[in-house]
Amino acid sequence: MSSIPISFSQRARHSVEAPISYLMEQGISNPDIISLAAGLVDQESLPREEIAEAISHLWKDPRRAKDALQYGTTPGHHALRGKIADRLRDMDRHALKGTMNADDRHPATAGRIVLGTGSQQLLYILAEVLLDPGDIVLGSAPGYFVYMGALASFGARIIPIDTDAGGMNLDHLESTLVDLERSNLLARVKFIYDVTYFNNPTGLSLAADRRRPLVELAERWSKTHRLLVLEDAAYRELRYHGNDEPSLLAYDPEGERVIYAGTFSKPLAPGIRTGYIIAPDDLLEQVIRQKGHHDFGSASLNQQLVLEMLESGAYDRHLATLRKVYSAKLAGMLDQLDQELGNERDRVRWTMPEGGLYVWMELPTSLSTTMDSSFFQHALSSGVLYVPGNFCYPDTDAGAPRHCLRLSFGHQSIDRCREGVTRLAGVIRQHLPSS
Ligand SMILES: Cc1ncc(COP(=O)(O)O)c(C=O)c1O
Repeated sequence: MSSIPISFSQRARHSVEAPISYLMEQGISNPDIISLAAGLVDQESLPREEIAEAISHLWKDPRRAKDALQYGTTPGHHALRGKIADRLRDMDRHALKGTMNADDRHPATAGRIVLGTGSQQLLYILAEVLLDPGDIVLGSAPGYFVYMGALASFGARIIPIDTDAGGMNLDHLESTLVDLERSNLLARVKFIYDVTYFNNPTGLSLAADRRRPLVELAERWSKTHRLLVLEDAAYRELRYHGNDEPSLLAYDPEGERVIYAGTFSKPLAPGIRTGYIIAPDDLLEQVIRQKGHHDFGSASLNQQLVLEMLESGAYDRHLATLRKVYSAKLAGMLDQLDQELGNERDRVRWTMPEGGLYVWMELPTSLSTTMDSSFFQHALSSGVLYVPGNFCYPDTDAGAPRHCLRLSFGHQSIDRCREGVTRLAGVIRQHLPSS
């Protein structure tokens, strides 16, 4: 390697290696380790046969088959976008138990949707079109750390907003905006980011009575420019208990300020790499322009497959199976936590999600779970991996809690989830301060 250094861009210099890569590597390279860290989905239930059927059906129609092998448009397959819009409107109407508002208006239309290579690509492009170095994003904390890393690569400042059992704390959000206005920084606040259903990492959702107020808050604080809300709904369809809640979109009938990001990765297969956003028209135009620079459209074949599965009903059938699979895994993990640590409930707490793929644990504050802690090393040598909770806060947040951890029940079998919890509980018991 030459001794003369390469002169990297600001973006590259702001990008740090994702901490999760080490954890993924450990989990994959050592089969004796039970990784409750990996964000992979359930392997057994991946819809191999259903996809084969969808391809075979698609291939019977030479025109569709050839279209699937051709370049598509930058925003993506029109019929799929229409199908997604219909589905979202139906979901919201159903969640609201009837009509949306006086005129039954909803911003989801095919024309307001762009399909991407996973929703991650579109989240990234949104950052690209909205953020300059020094701009501010207000994000629920703990939150989705992969996106925090992407935002940081743009030189953006992520200000963490507290969360509780009902998700993002709107009082804290508002007081943060008041402080920013006092410091003359309101013009730098570009959007609010929240995973509104079964957040990664807490598994908790934004409470029903905070949804409309969040959209109204964004409207109220659109003083120097339109303050946007990015609603990441990656886990919405993975609900195992309770009823669906309306999206923030349902409270933005004109489609002015809410961006809704969805994905087929979790409910279908991440290998299909198909996600989408619904966004205000003027924003979407910019997103499509940037996406044109990236790839002038995501894989047509994958979009056709998703469409085929939605149309044939295979998607909904698969989702029903998946809900049963994950529901059983979640129940197994929670039951094992209860068996192992139920009598430590005053010192060790965990969330009881109604969906998603994660459980969030809080240990006594004196007990560090960070990657350089003896607790982490002990867990590793006991053959279990978790995501240290401090990763789920912006790394500029010096006060971020260091006593939490994220457990995922997505990838491991029920037995391995249970065994992983047993190993972890052994480590926790040994590290708990003697009472
Ligand atoms: C909250 C959240 N949003 C977005 C994504 C991106 O998923 P994909 O790009 O596969 O759609 C993930 C992936 O884990 C996620 O957890």
